[in-house]
Amino acid sequence: MFVGEAPGADEDREGKPFVGVSGQLLDRMMAAIGLDRTSAYIANILPWRPPGNRPPSPAEVQSCLPFIDRHIALAEPKILVFVGGVSAKALLDASQGITRLRGRWAQYTVNDRDIPAMPIFHPAYLLRQPALKRETWRDLQAIRQRLNAET
Ligand code: URA
Ligand code: URA
Repeated sequence: MFVGEAPGADEDREGKPFVGVSGQLLDRMMAAIGLDRTSAYIANILPWRPPGNRPPSPAEVQSCLPFIDRHIALAEPKILVFVGGVSAKALLDASQGITRLRGRWAQYTVNDRDIPAMPIFHPAYLLRQPALKRETWRDLQAIRQRLNAET
């Protein structure tokens, strides 16, 4: 299960997560490790688009946490991928930024079950910083290896 930040304009229009330019890169990232939208589930921390595309406020993120927590509980994913800093920080209750958090396995506990969780750079960030795709490629390989080990 991949958890992003919030819908953008394209997602708002279609009512589906990651269908815009970022989503196209996310699709390629998933495909690189043999995943697609039938084998992986995608959600966002916020179900709505913050007005004017501003970043979600801490209060908005806090108010959405119980819903994404329940969402994760219902989806029962083998592995969680926190896509971008907002998602990673919120779900790990971490103060470090994504540059520190990415590439290391963390855990998300739901219904007394510890789910392995990997924070990765957000595809929108990778589009602006293509040099960081190398790190993300390694993170994706780690996710693939973990999936192979779990199944
Ligand atoms: N960025 C996100 O974090 N989520 C989306 O659904 C689209 C862009
Ligand atoms: N900022 C974020 O929120 N996420 C990233 O992946 C990079 C910068």
